[in-house]
Amino acid sequence: MLDHDLIRKFGYKTITLNDKLYIIKYKQNISQNFAVEALYGLKQKPKFISPKFFYNDVGQKLFNEICKTDEYYLTRAEIEILNNFAKQATKYIQGKFQLVELGSGDSIKTEIILDIFKKQNTLEYFPIDISDVIITNSIKLQNKYSNLYVSAIVSDYQDAFNLIDYNNASDRKLVFFLGSSFGNFNYSEGQNFLNSIKKMLNVNDLFLLGLDLVKEKQTLLRAYNDSSNFTAAFNLNILTNINKLIGTNFDVDKFKHGVKYNEIEQRIEMYLRSTINQTVEHDNCLINFHKDELIMTEYSYKYTIDKIKHLIQNSNLKLKTIQCDKNKLYALILVSK
Ligand code: AVI
Repeated sequence: MLDHDLIRKFGYKTITLNDKLYIIKYKQNISQNFAVEALYGLKQKPKFISPKFFYNDVGQKLFNEICKTDEYYLTRAEIEILNNFAKQATKYIQGKFQLVELGSGDSIKTEIILDIFKKQNTLEYFPIDISDVIITNSIKLQNKYSNLYVSAIVSDYQDAFNLIDYNNASDRKLVFFLGSSFGNFNYSEGQNFLNSIKKMLNVNDLFLLGLDLVKEKQTLLRAYNDSSNFTAAFNLNILTNINKLIGTNFDVDKFKHGVKYNEIEQRIEMYLRSTINQTVEHDNCLINFHKDELIMTEYSYKYTIDKIKHLIQNSNLKLKTIQCDKNKLYALILVSK
């Protein structure tokens, strides 16, 4: 259980939905910070908007559609590995655990993990996400799993990690971060992130991480530019979301979705291209775009098995297993402290 006095001290409030479901939210209005962050990115060269702004309700729905397309192999590959992992989970997971999920996740994947613990009488589950989507997901999961006690933390990861750190339960922790979201970090950001994870882990705790693998360029490009145009709509929706959040007046029709694969950095780069010279306004501030200027919206790093081993080794974490799907498209990594 999280200590509710401590939650208040950290500036969060608790909303009790029922005796098994708490929502923990930051008290302050975070849209002010969003404006500072988004405007900072739009003043850089090249301009950028953080991928965390993709995930409003519409963005989350579009992302779910992307995951079902033939081209976006990542979700199917990860589910295949998770199902295999679940079958032999007792090799790595014995005793009582509590679960920490980073990112709103796809409930199919969360359910595969929850099923591993279905014999546990009570199962504490802490989903962490910047978006309110975890609230609806948590309600859905709670209806299905009678042993589930949920504290959903609507927050940035770093703040939430501090809260979890102070939760001195005796159960071991399984922290999981799926969907290749780790791929949004460059190598050194990834390293810092792993250091924060390591701080949160006790000796027998586990961290399960999903990473996309380097592969043929065309397969990657297709995955980020599906023929049903869900990815294009998802990318463009970031502008609608920014307009709503901070009051800019982006005209979404004057930007086009684009993607390239940077072979040197081994990353997909998703961007929006301005189709004309134009000016976007925010209060008294003007943001000028020349025709064909790009706003970078997402870097999605791809890994080789060697690079994964290197990353884990450099973070002084212990690699328990790396598992891939049958087509070697994707990898799931289990580590401990
Ligand atoms: C969640 N995430 C890291 C996805 C990815 O594959 O990079 C987001 C995404 N962007 C476009 N399609 C999917």
